[in-house]
Amino acid sequence: VIAAFQPKLLKGKRVLVTAGPTFEPIDPVRGITNLSSGKMGYAVARAAYEAGAEVTLVSGPTALATPYGVRRIGIQTAQQMHDIVMAQMAAQSGTDIFVAVAAVADWRVANASSQKLKKNADGSAPQLVFEQNPDILATVAALPKPPYCVGFAAESENLLQYGEAKRIRKNVPLLVGNIGHDTFGKDDNQLVLFDAGGHTELARAGKQELARQLIAAIATRLGK
Ligand code: CTP
Ligand code: CA
Repeated sequence: VIAAFQPKLLKGKRVLVTAGPTFEPIDPVRGITNLSSGKMGYAVARAAYEAGAEVTLVSGPTALATPYGVRRIGIQTAQQMHDIVMAQMAAQSGTDIFVAVAAVADWRVANASSQKLKKNADGSAPQLVFEQNPDILATVAALPKPPYCVGFAAESENLLQYGEAKRIRKNVPLLVGNIGHDTFGKDDNQLVLFDAGGHTELARAGKQELARQLIAAIATRLGK
């Protein structure tokens, strides 16, 4: 479907999307990240804009161009992503829909070095200590007046069981499961939508097409 002819299902809605990986520093030149390309999150942001929404995209490091019409805020760490998202939640303008597509690092390095680590003469390796990052989606979902929250989950097994359990644990009305763990970096994907009524499988398709279907599914659930 040509974008210009799509129904404006989210006209007047404010949508916040997280996308991409996060990058957790070890020292000034090294860090821990993951294989998320950001493609799915950027596709969701684009589809929301094409559906008439005002879209803000909070993105970790990616090689992708900002979708037309979307306001993009770049971050590196999960803590920075958390702080930007929570500032958006507190903003006067408000957020109607929050779609958490980012592959957020579960842990950061607690003993990151402010100087570049040097090799030790005795061949010993540095010992990294990890601490857990804030759960951005769960924090937003627990706000007194949360936006409509949509989570993503990449599971390597038991998707139907883990997906439903994760939706309930995160307390979100809609959770999107990726079938298999072969989504990172790919152009197509296969999704399962979990909501209070059960689950719906979307046939394998390109990420942009799936993003449009997801936006339509969100609009339906918002009663549009
Ligand atoms: N998420 C988040 N903040 C985090 C971790 C995850 O906002 N610190 C969001 C992701 O963007 C995604 C959803 O939560 O929408 C599920 O992420 P996932 O990694 O599958 O869930 P976790 O709760 O981290 O559980 P797991 O132990 O399976 O990684
Ligand atoms: Ca995780």
